[in-house]
Amino acid sequence: MKPTNPLKLACIGCGARAQTYTSLAARRPDRFQIVAGADPVAGRVEKIRRCSGNPDFRAFAGAQDLLAAGKLADVVIVATQDNYHFESCHRALELGYDVLLEKPIATRVDQVLEIERLALQANRRVMVCFVLRFAAFYRKVKEIIGSGILGDLVSIQAGEGVMPWHQAHSFVRGHWSVVSKSSPMIISKCCHDTDIVHWLAGRRCRKIASFGSLDYFRPERAPAGVPARCTDGCPVENTCPYNALRYAGDQRDPWLGMVYDRAAEATPAEIQDWLRTSPWGRCVYRCDNDAVDRQVLAMEFDGGLTGTFTMTAFETGRHLEIYGTRGVLKGGETYRRHFGSHLVFLPHEGEIVRYTVQAEDGGYELHGGGDAGLVNALYEEMTRPAGEPLAAGINSTVHSHLIGFAAEEARRTGSVVDIEDYQRRHTPQ
Ligand SMILES: NC(=O)c1ccc[n+]([C@@H]2O[C@H](COP(=O)([O-])OP(=O)(O)OC[C@H]3O[C@@H](n4cnc5c(N)ncnc54)[C@H](O)[C@@H]3O)[C@@H](O)[C@H]2O)c1
Repeated sequence: MKPTNPLKLACIGCGARAQTYTSLAARRPDRFQIVAGADPVAGRVEKIRRCSGNPDFRAFAGAQDLLAAGKLADVVIVATQDNYHFESCHRALELGYDVLLEKPIATRVDQVLEIERLALQANRRVMVCFVLRFAAFYRKVKEIIGSGILGDLVSIQAGEGVMPWHQAHSFVRGHWSVVSKSSPMIISKCCHDTDIVHWLAGRRCRKIASFGSLDYFRPERAPAGVPARCTDGCPVENTCPYNALRYAGDQRDPWLGMVYDRAAEATPAEIQDWLRTSPWGRCVYRCDNDAVDRQVLAMEFDGGLTGTFTMTAFETGRHLEIYGTRGVLKGGETYRRHFGSHLVFLPHEGEIVRYTVQAEDGGYELHGGGDAGLVNALYEEMTRPAGEPLAAGINSTVHSHLIGFAAEEARRTGSVVDIEDYQRRHTPQ
């Protein structure tokens, strides 16, 4: 397609997420031009440069260098790890960039509120990568609620099965396993879910309670005689579902590519060598993790609507049940896999209605499809008149983060947290 007036994009952090977004953006040269990338790992910037097809692409060794070079693009994509979002986004807003910001907005609630304040003050657009809002499944749910067939909303019940291997990869061995180095799991993983419940409810959450713990991936659960690393000859290697040697076998795709730059070309022997020192080679029962492996939330929204959310390591996929005065809507991964439709509407009187949805990129409908949906929406979102609300703008996504942070306080203190009061207590003075 011939370029018209493409939006210029620059990436801070050129890892897995940035590569996904830029490869989707590169398919639309009429809408996007990728002009710069920054990452301390030069090979990752190189991947974005190649994908951009732009001979004038500028490569930087880190966020600071890119941000010191002035305003190079219309939109900066901030896709570093969680604990570096705040600093990069803050500086980018000061420089006058609009920002496509990976979730979470920041790892501390005061920083989230500070980004909101700065975005409003600078009159800049911040679009948060809550990809579920752009996924075909959740768009359909929102449309069904909007049609009124459920009647008045009474209760929303949402669940996320993280999946045992994914839990081990990300929250036991991986980037988000130690809460002090990232954020609580209800933020690092499930801010997507607090966001989707808030978005579907279409109103603010007033009060929240929460329970949960890390119970399974602990040293006392380790089978007898297991070594610290799966590469050290483990007595249960043939039966342990978390055997890290699977990174060289059936779990290579997609997991290895997310954490090892040579995933595509490495031989099994090379992967095994890498596992000897990498965090992903460690026994899941003998890591330094403290992220929970289960958590539940109970919420009350404006108007008395109630909501619950359950996160567990030991299920796969997201599920949803929405109860209304005229009927119930149920759907999610189990429906897709086993019942041939994504959603079922069960009216209190009358015929059942089944819905199937189609992902924008022809991929997975419940989450992955959201990446393409988000990039497809990016151009319109970032060219809206200044001040107009965005589909996943800062104004609505900050509240979704507040729900998560308040839930963590409720879980840690065993109390019911009033969200307005929580926000007042954490707003920077
Ligand atoms: N929206 C979603 O569905 C979704 C899914 C997964 C991850 N995420 C979020 O996306 C973010 C990135 O995740 P990822 O999986 O791409 O991680 P990643 O580790 O693959 O990428 C992060 C990159 O940031 C780079 N980096 C580190 N310090 C830097 C600096 N000073 N300047 C520039 N770059 C720097 C790293 O070298 C790395 O390449 C995380 O915040 C994560 O929580 C979002």
